[in-house]
Amino acid sequence: MILIDGKKTAADIKAEIAAEVEQMLAQGKRRPHLAAILVGDDGASQTYVNNKVKACEVCGFQSTLIRLDASTTQDELLEHIQRLNNDPEVDGFIVQLPLPKHINEQAVIEAIDPAKDVDGFHPVNVGRMSIGLPCFLPATPAGIMELLRRYNVPTRGKRCVVLGRSNIVGKPMAMLMMQKGTPGDATVTVCHSATENLKEICREADLLIAALGQPGFVTEDMVKEGATVIDVGTTRVPDATRKSGFRLSGDVDFEHVAPKCAFISPVPGGVGPMTIVSLMLNTLRAGKLRN
Ligand code: GUN
Repeated sequence: MILIDGKKTAADIKAEIAAEVEQMLAQGKRRPHLAAILVGDDGASQTYVNNKVKACEVCGFQSTLIRLDASTTQDELLEHIQRLNNDPEVDGFIVQLPLPKHINEQAVIEAIDPAKDVDGFHPVNVGRMSIGLPCFLPATPAGIMELLRRYNVPTRGKRCVVLGRSNIVGKPMAMLMMQKGTPGDATVTVCHSATENLKEICREADLLIAALGQPGFVTEDMVKEGATVIDVGTTRVPDATRKSGFRLSGDVDFEHVAPKCAFISPVPGGVGPMTIVSLMLNTLRAGKLRN
């Protein structure tokens, strides 16, 4: 069994990005600049955004964090977005999700200039991805593709089962795995809450990508001997022994599943760090396109 080390891979890629930024600066170009809008005080979202800002520092990017009160109206948020769309100093920006209930998330996503949509959530980027055109890829699936590439996990002609059909992970993951190329060229099945015979389907998977948000959902009896298992789950589970009061739990029963696997990604230290690195790669790309 090979443990897919997302933490180390992410650190390697951040060092590669930092070296590229140095080259850009030596050529008289600007540092890539990422802005992030955080609305409200959701604990997990604050942690994610803080980690994104820290990653910008490591990569040598400029970053701007715009913190808005939970009572911010949709129109006020849209004004901030317009300002960032028009700011020539900002290469790309994100609006951290989820947003407070009174704000229409889709309207917000569609207000972002697709050329600055480094989350890859705008329908223009989603559409371009679906037909294999250059675009900003959504961070989590892009991070998983990079792990599969760097660990030379075989995908061509393999059966890939994606658990979950979210717009952020499940759907784009399925799309990328079925596309021509390496990694890719897989035969893909997407399972969701209405899927019948889910266990049987999982047992046929050469690659099983779990993105349900249900701790320990994938058990040993659902995994084929020699499969590759990618765990996207990051559920906060109460844990009194931790200073934070919680620990992150993946969708996979790692202890019992790992011995059967050719490759497996752990939680934490697997997909999570790669998600942030993908955002950095998208920002680097945006910076190059605009420089
Ligand atoms: N919330 C959870 N994941 C993400 C992400 O990748 N981008 C944004 N903007 N919000 C998120």
